[in-house]
Parts: sequence; C-alpha cells; structure tokens
Amino acid sequence: MIKHLLSGGDLDADAATEILDTAAEMATVAGREIKKLPALRGRTVVNLFYEDSTRTRISFEAAAKRLSADVINFSAKGSSVTKGESLKDTALTLQAMGADAVVVRHPASGAPHRLANWVDGSVVNAGDGTHEHPTQALLDAYTMRSRLGRLAGLSVAVVGDVLHSRVARSNVLLLSTLGAKVTLVGPPTLIPVDIAAALAPGTDVSYDLDSALPNVDVVMMLRVQRERMNDSYFPSAREYARRYGLDGPRMRRLPEHAIVMHPGPMNRGMEITPEVADSPRSTIVEQVTNGVSVRMAVLYLLLGGNNR
Ligand code: NCD
Repeated sequence: MIKHLLSGGDLDADAATEILDTAAEMATVAGREIKKLPALRGRTVVNLFYEDSTRTRISFEAAAKRLSADVINFSAKGSSVTKGESLKDTALTLQAMGADAVVVRHPASGAPHRLANWVDGSVVNAGDGTHEHPTQALLDAYTMRSRLGRLAGLSVAVVGDVLHSRVARSNVLLLSTLGAKVTLVGPPTLIPVDIAAALAPGTDVSYDLDSALPNVDVVMMLRVQRERMNDSYFPSAREYARRYGLDGPRMRRLPEHAIVMHPGPMNRGMEITPEVADSPRSTIVEQVTNGVSVRMAVLYLLLGGNNR
C-alpha cells in the first residue's frame, strides 16, 4: 500500500479495490453492538482542518476512533494559526507529538502535498482547495459498487460546478482507473477547457443535461460552490436550476436502475430539488454512512494495519 493518499490518481486498480474490499469488511463492524476494532491501538491520528467541514471531519474522527486510535482534532479556528503560524510550523508541532497519520483539509490546492514532505507519518488529503478529495471519490465508488454491483463499464455523469470541485477531479481519476466512463456535464463556464483530457483520456464533456440523463447508471450532482466564485458564472440561480438542476421530471428521464448521488452539503432547490434528494434513488445518506467504513479502510491500510 502507498504511504500517503493525496490524489485519486495515487491508486491503481488493485490498490483501490483493496480499499473498497477492506471497507466492506469494516462496514460489518458498524452493525455490531460494540463498534470498535483494536487495529490502531496506540497510534495517533491528527485531524487538521483549516476549512469548514461537517461530514468529512466527523467521519474521519469516527473512523479513527472505531479503530481504537488516539485522535487529536485540530481546527484552525482557536489555534495558533490565527496568530499567523505557518503550515510548516504547525506540521513540525504535529511531528514532535508523534502523529502516525495526519488528515488534512486546507483551502490551498497542494497543501497536503507540502505537508507530506514535512512529517514522517502518513498524510491523507481530506480536500485541498479546488484540487482533490480522494476519500470522497473512494466512498462514492464504494456506494456505486454496493448499489449497482460493479464499477467497470458504468456510465457516470458528474454534473454542475466542475470548475471548483475537488470531488469531481478525484472521481474522474479514480472512476477511470476502475473502468467506469465519466461524462462531465455543466455550463461551459464551469467546465474548464481540456479538463477531461488532462485528467483521464476517455472522459466526455456535455453541456446538455437532458440528453445525458437517459444513458447513465449514476448521476452525481455537485454543489454550486458560491464561496469560491469571485465572478458570475451563470445569469441567476433560477436560470442555473432550470438548465442544470435535477428535479422530478428530469429524474424520471433516468433509466429505472440509475442512482442519484451528491457529496453534500446540498443547495436544495438549486442543483437538486428535495423531491430528488429524498427519493429512493438518492444515495446521499448512504454515502455518509459508507464514508466511515471507507475512511477506516484507508487509515487501516495506510498505517500498515495489514502487515502487523
Ligand atoms: C465536499 C467538499 O467539501 O469538498 N463535501 C464533502 O466533503 N462531503 C463538496 C462540497 O463542499 O461541495
């Protein structure tokens, strides 16, 4: 197994499948009365969050605790970061405390890669700027595999604000490694030129959601990331919802078996309507549950749990 997990592209098909298979075993722990394994007893996992997060932060915390690791939660608010301490000095502090793994979320693309040079432990990228979010891609792949039985040959539409989405980037890389076909769908202003070819050859781009829907097994809606937009990428929220939002009538254009995903947090009424988000096709809550098992598998395998 690799030492750090920084990108969806760090994993070949065997390594990714090993994580998904291990996650399936971890999921059985969640069904037990005592949801704990001794695998990482005595190891220290630091959650280093420089950006707001609900799902990712708590699921990494739950994952590390279910493996009996000692967990230190660090959020930039309330730390010496607000006094201007650099990422490097913070890293050296973590190093001095003997962190075996550092889970990092940071607004700057590339921050986890820098961190990996400064600490001896494993670094897990929990979202860096608009760049990557590999454990989200793994939990998405896990969810697709458990709902649809396979990944190879699946047709997946990733819809919306691709430009600002680390979820989209990591998913394109991982899904193409695992043999799925990805189509990026959205307004031209939110799909960077050449992104498909640059990330993974074979990835398609479409600006027309209605024509893409009848041919997909999975539709993954992305949040419109207004906090990262310093320009106007579409005329109005209403116009965006009308062309690229997934509502009931559009959902009914999907094949019978197709599922609807969203990484959360959702802008209900913008990229997805409540009717769709709360429908039986939606895997949104399942994705959160699966996130804990997948992160348990990642921490376990990166920290060499299988070699001890
Ligand atoms: C995403 C993120 O923060 O990258 N959410 C998540 O981790 N579940 C997507 C988003 O913020 O839109």
